[in-house]
Order: sequence, then structure tokens, then C-alpha cells
Amino acid sequence: MSNSELSPEHQVEAARKAFEQEFERFVPFVDDPSALTKLDLETVVAEQRALADLRTRHLGKKSALAATKKLIGRVAPDQRAAFGQLVQATEATLVQSLDQTEQTLKNHIENERTARESIDVTLPGRRPRSGHRHPITLLRERLEDVFVALGYAIEDDREIETDFYNFDALNIPENHPARAWQDTFYTTEGFALRSQTSTVQIHAMQRRGVPVRMIAPGRVFRRDTPDPTHNPMFFQVEGLCVDRGISMAHLKGTVAELLRQMFGPDTVTRFRPSYFPFTEPSAEFDFSCFKCKGAGCRICKNSGWIELGGSGMVHPNVLRTVGVDPQEFSGFAFGFGIDRMCALMYELDDIRLLFENDLRFLEQFE
Ligand code: DAH
Repeated sequence: MSNSELSPEHQVEAARKAFEQEFERFVPFVDDPSALTKLDLETVVAEQRALADLRTRHLGKKSALAATKKLIGRVAPDQRAAFGQLVQATEATLVQSLDQTEQTLKNHIENERTARESIDVTLPGRRPRSGHRHPITLLRERLEDVFVALGYAIEDDREIETDFYNFDALNIPENHPARAWQDTFYTTEGFALRSQTSTVQIHAMQRRGVPVRMIAPGRVFRRDTPDPTHNPMFFQVEGLCVDRGISMAHLKGTVAELLRQMFGPDTVTRFRPSYFPFTEPSAEFDFSCFKCKGAGCRICKNSGWIELGGSGMVHPNVLRTVGVDPQEFSGFAFGFGIDRMCALMYELDDIRLLFENDLRFLEQFE
């Protein structure tokens, strides 16, 4: 028996039943909206769409219920009012069920979306990790402070040099044996990575003229095999003071003051005669061991003294090269390794630690 053979009342009833059968799965949502929280949001949105389809199919123009409205002619005249009421009441029930469910789903979706987008302003913020300076930089800055207080300028200069600045101007002519112990890395013909910061003595005097007082911290390069005390790239500080009447006494006073500032007021400085092509006379300087105060320990290799750098009175040939009259002006110069000083201060067993960029090491200097 097809629907059209049923009585109009039965057809209304059949339309209601068909609706209820399909609607059944939405009933739990209305009975207990908290069940929706077990579903993910995308599923609930899909259910909302399914519900809208259900509405179109059962209440739309082509729905079975809409069709029953056209059957009024087949109903006995005295039953027509009652039939009309039945259709309307049925329609109202369906609409109510759909509206209620629709509202429940809508509320749930809105709440979920608001919850997802909300931010908890009481949560602690994510602090950006700020870096910190490398131990060599920390030490370089301390050295700069000492010299700035003594009236020195800080010079920064190129790391790629010509033979002229690295050797000739520093009184190291071609074939001079001093070129051999400062073998460096050669680039294009005539250029090399500087093997010493002494190059900046020349640049500074050319740029500033004399009198001049400056220090030049920076990288230098030598063709060395890395080991606990050597690295092919390391840092030096160069110092230069040229004026009228500068003597060895000024050099000693300056270096002694530096070492007292760096290693404590009791530090004693010692000068030993030495040789550098760009100074005459030349001296190497040592300071009393800051650890054992001269008694002898592992750091000073039981000598009580720590060797640090080279120095001397600027050679007249160097002054002449930059057009300064050695009869009128004299000066002193010195140079030492920052990484070596750093390794001593922090008692590092291996200088290479400073260049490996291992954060476990570097973070200890924050
Ligand atoms: N340039 C030398 C070196 O690298 C160090 C040095 C010695 C610098 C004596 C000076 C100096 O200014 O007077 O070994």
C-alpha cells in the first residue's frame, strides 16, 4: 500500500513517523547537551548541516507533510477543520523539535569557538631568550674601559692586509726571518689575513697623525695547528702611544697599571729584554701569578710569573714610514693575546673552548 492510498490523516501520521525516525539521533543532544563536548567541533558543525537538510526534507515545499496540505479536498467537509488542525499541529511539533535542536547545536558551537579563541591573560608570558656576550667580548670591554680611562682611543681596523701593513711598514722587510714565525693565510696576490694587530699602529698614525694614544683589539690569524694553547684565529690587543718625550718609563707605568686593574692591586709586572722588528729596545712582559701570588702553581707552571705580551719603544723606521720625525717624537707599543688572558682568568685548560660555540660552555659566563 503506497502513501497516496492511505487516508489523509494517516498520511500526516506517516510523514510525522518518517521525520521522527530520522530525527531520533539528534534527540540525545537536546536531552543532554553536555554529550556534545565528547564530539569534536567539526563533527558538531556537520550535525548542524545535517539538521538543516532534515528540515528541508520534512518541512520544505516538496516534503510529504507539505503534500498532505493538498489533500483537504479528500477529507469529508465536517472533518476538514480537524484535519487542518492536525496538519498544523504536526508541523508545529516538527518545527519545535528542529528549532530546539538547532539552538542547542548553535549554542554549543558558539561556546566552543569562544573558548578556543579566548586567551588566558593570567598565563605567564613567554620571555624571549636574550643572549649574552662571549667571554672574549666581556674581557675586551674590560680592557677597553681601562684604556679609555687612561685617555686612549679604541681603533678597529681591517683583518685583510697587504704585505706593507703586516710586514714592511713594521720594519719586517721581505726575506726577514720574522715573516716565517708569523706565517698566515694568503689570499689574492699581495693580500693576507693579518697575523698581528700591529698593523693598526700604521693605520692609526696615518689617519690621526701624532701625538696618538690608541688601542686596537681584534682578530689575527696564523697558520697554526690547533692545540690546547693555539688556534689559527685568535684575538690580540695592540697599544700605541706616540708623543714628544715618551720613554720606556711610560711603557712600564702603563702596562703595570693595566695588569693591576685586570689582576688586582698587588700584581707585580716584570720586563725581560726581547726582540721585535718594530720596537727598539724590545721587552716581553710578565706579571706575578694572580693565583699563587708568586709561590708557584699549575697556572704559572711553578715559576710564579705569567708571560703575557710583547712591547718596546717604537722603532725609528716605523715612525719614518708614516712620516713622523723620530728626532721629535718617540713612542711605545705593546701587544698581547685576549684569548690567552681569558684562558688564564677563567682557568681554561683548552683555548679552543672559546671558539667551539658550545652553549654549555658559553652560558657559564652570563
Ligand atoms: N705583534 C707582536 C706579536 O704578534 C706582539 C707585539 C710585540 C706587539 C711588541 C707590539 C710590540 O706592539 O711592541 O707577537
